[in-house]
Amino acid sequence: MNTVKDYIEKNKDRFLEELFDLIRIPSVSASEENKEDMLRAAGYLKDSLIKAGADKAEIFETEGHPILYGEKMIDSSLPTVLVYGHYDVQPAEPYDLWNTKPFEPVIKDGKIWARGADDDKGQLFMHVKAFEYMVSENKLPCNVKFMIEGEEEVGSGSLGKFCEEKKDMLSADVILVSDTTMIAPDTPSITTGLRGLSYMQVELAGPNRDLHSGLYGGAVANPCNVLAKMIASLTDENNRITIPGFYDDVLESSDEERKEMAKRPYNEKEYMSSIDVDGLMGEESFTTHERLGIRPSLDVNGIWGGYTDKGAKTILPSKAYAKISMRLVPNQDSLKIAKIFEEHFKSIAPEGVKVKVEYLHGGQAYVSPIDSEEYKAASRAMEETYGKKPIPVRSGGSIPIISTFENILGIKSILMGFGLEEDAIHSPNENYPLHNFFKGIETIPYFYKYYTSK
Ligand code: BES
Ligand code: MN
Ligand code: MN
Repeated sequence: MNTVKDYIEKNKDRFLEELFDLIRIPSVSASEENKEDMLRAAGYLKDSLIKAGADKAEIFETEGHPILYGEKMIDSSLPTVLVYGHYDVQPAEPYDLWNTKPFEPVIKDGKIWARGADDDKGQLFMHVKAFEYMVSENKLPCNVKFMIEGEEEVGSGSLGKFCEEKKDMLSADVILVSDTTMIAPDTPSITTGLRGLSYMQVELAGPNRDLHSGLYGGAVANPCNVLAKMIASLTDENNRITIPGFYDDVLESSDEERKEMAKRPYNEKEYMSSIDVDGLMGEESFTTHERLGIRPSLDVNGIWGGYTDKGAKTILPSKAYAKISMRLVPNQDSLKIAKIFEEHFKSIAPEGVKVKVEYLHGGQAYVSPIDSEEYKAASRAMEETYGKKPIPVRSGGSIPIISTFENILGIKSILMGFGLEEDAIHSPNENYPLHNFFKGIETIPYFYKYYTSK
């Protein structure tokens, strides 16, 4: 009889080779060019599930990218764990900032370096391997279902409908997800909240063509100048968002909750030096982790217009654009926020520019209680393998589909992530420590064990 540790030790090279084959498929959901890679990645995972012991696995085509579903049903009277993950990744650009090729994983300094190494191929694959272990060693204590999508990084456009249509197939007692972070390699935590999101794109149109900035400059509204001013006015001197009604639905946390939150280990100097900044900025009278976990935010993700190539070109641009995301907290509605954003943004535009506002995607925030059976099981599992009780943490990130699962399927999710903040997800040189990968595989079977022996 192998313990999970023995099993990992015996198979770790194969686990890595298999993960690397998945990572080598450039499944970038945002890029049209990678359409076929999406199907290849789903197909690869389908084969992995079958080899690991699933009774069946099926790829469902959607209007967007395919969804993979797989299951092993051992006894319908036992609980069912539904594992969720995503095989799509963010674009790897800018390529020149990578030290190694993003889709050619390498191991260096004890870490896997590649796009998707953490988010979410590495984390998702831990579940496939933990499942393989439980099946092969006869330790699977309940039914398992897998739902793996290819559109998480672009807003999970097809998964809501899929859930509506396949409610019966997806019925389960809990959804288990590894797509978040933990505090540090030796400080386990469980994510108890995710922020919601309203992702907007704005266009400002001024004159009908780029104009000579000498012949027209100073006399005509410049969309780039105007856009900068409008964006600057969206937050005030205390870094509070100025859109009327923006905070109306925000659930304020009690002093007690805030006190509890402040107990998590946090070193501001280290935080700053890890991203090479000499100061921090955020909403007045909240701490960094409050700003991230329980307060909404507004950020420009990209801004463009006019001449941006080398050298100078003296023009007054015809158009200016920005992508603006708002992270939301529990009780804020992403569509309502999108609507008041649009109204406000149009209302502050001066004469001389026309404004278009588009809602790209979004979703609601999520909170999970810490007294649920699934939280307790995850907590015991992590305590078992890390030797310390995990700390509950509200994350600043978003996985909008998690609240959709709750609304459509009526199932709560447990966010047992093994990533680290410094893994550079979405950035050049994304990486995932081998330690976290193997620790994840080791921990997951304990979740099943404690969840089913509650
Ligand atoms: N896995 C991340 C979300 C995440 C990471 C949550 C770390 C908590 C800790 C996910 O893949 C992601 O990137 N989500 C997007 C939202 C999506 C709609 C594009 C995000 O948060 O920007
Ligand atoms: Mn992810
Ligand atoms: Mn992501």
